[in-house]
Amino acid sequence: MNTIQKELIKATVPILKSNGNDLITYFYQRMLKNNPELKNIFNMANQASGKQQHALTGAVLAYAENIENPGVLINVLKSIGNKHVSLNIAPEQYDIVGSHLIGSIKEVLGDLATVELIEAWTCAYQELAQIMISLEAEMYQKASNKKGGWKGWRNFIISKIVEESDEIKSFYLKPEDNKDIADFYPGQYISVSTFIPELGHKQPRQYSLSSASNNEFYRISVKKEKGINSTPNGIVSNTLHNKKEGDNIEVSAPAGVFYADPDSKTH
Ligand SMILES: Cc1cc2nc3c(=O)[nH]c(=O)nc-3n(C[C@H](O)[C@H](O)[C@H](O)COP(=O)(O)OP(=O)(O)OC[C@H]3O[C@@H](n4cnc5c(N)ncnc54)[C@H](O)[C@@H]3O)c2cc1C
Ligand code: HEM
Repeated sequence: MNTIQKELIKATVPILKSNGNDLITYFYQRMLKNNPELKNIFNMANQASGKQQHALTGAVLAYAENIENPGVLINVLKSIGNKHVSLNIAPEQYDIVGSHLIGSIKEVLGDLATVELIEAWTCAYQELAQIMISLEAEMYQKASNKKGGWKGWRNFIISKIVEESDEIKSFYLKPEDNKDIADFYPGQYISVSTFIPELGHKQPRQYSLSSASNNEFYRISVKKEKGINSTPNGIVSNTLHNKKEGDNIEVSAPAGVFYADPDSKTH
C-alpha cells in the first residue's frame, strides 16, 4: 500500500463514519441476500438489533484510521480471531465479506468513489484480511494440534441437563465419537450451533465453560432470555431450554483469551 493510497483512505474514513448506518445497512443487506448461507453463522438477533453490524464495519474503519501503524490493534485482532475461530470462519469467506464491503463503500461514497479510491480501500481490506487469516490459521492449528483438540464443528450429545434455577439450566456435553476432548482454562468459552426451526437455519452462540476442565464432558449454564414488551425471546437460549437429554448439538473447541493465570498454584 503506497502513501497516496494511505492518504486517500484516511481522508474518507470520516465520511464513511458519518454515514455509518448507510454503510452498515448496505453491507449486511447485500451480503445476506447474496450469500444467505451466512445466516447460519451470523447472529441474526444482532442483525435485528444492530449490534454486530457495528462490530465488523467498525473494526474495518478502526483499522483504516490506524493504517500507518496497524500494530496497535493486534490485541483487538486476536480477540476477534478467537471469536472467528470459534465460529469456524474460513479464509475464502474473507473474499465474500470484502466484495460486499467494498461494494457498499462505493455506494456510500457515490461520486467520490474514484477508481483510485476504491483500489486503495480494496488494498486496505486485503491487508487487514491477510493479517486476520494468518492469526486465525495459527489459532486453528493450535486448537487442532492439542490433545483432544479439533477444528470447526464437532458433534456432541447432551448427556445430562440440570435445572439450576427457574431460568438457568446446565447442559453436560459429551462428544458423539467418545474420544478425548480438549482441556481449557477458566474464562474460556465454546460456541454451540443448533438448527432453529422458526428461522429455518442454524444459529451459533457462545457459552462460558462452567465446570473445571476434565476429559469427559463440557458443561455450560444457559440463562433463558425472555423478551420484554415487543422484544422477542432469545432464540438460541430458548431452543436450548427445550432440548432433552440425548439430543445432539454442534460444538467448537474451547476458545477465548483467558484472564486467570493458568499456572497459579493458589486455585
Ligand atoms: C464469550 C461469551 C460467553 C457467554 N457465556 C454465557 C453463559 O455462560 N451463559 C449464558 O446464558 N449466556 C452466555 N453468553 C451469551 C450467549 O452467547 C447468548 O448471547 C445468550 O444466550 C442469548 O442468546 P439468544 O439466542 O437466546 O438470544 P438472541 O436471540 O441472540 O437475543 C439476544 C437479546 O436480544 C434481544 N432481541 C432479540 N431480537 C431483538 C430485536 N429484533 N430487537 C431488539 N432486541 C432483540 C432478546 O430479547 C435478547 O435479550 C455468552 C456470550 C459470550 C460472547
Ligand atoms: C477483515 C474482516 C473482518 C473484520 C474486521 C471482522 C470484525 C469482527 C468483529 C469486531 C467481531 C466482533 C467480535 C466480538 O464480538 O468479540 C466479529 C465477529 C464476527 N465475525 Fe467478523 N470480521 C471480519 C471478517 C469476517 C468474515 C470473513 C466472517 C465470515 C463470513 C465473519 C463473521 C463473523 C461472525 C459470524 C461474528 C460473530 C458475530 C455475531 O454473530 O455476533 N467476520 N467480526
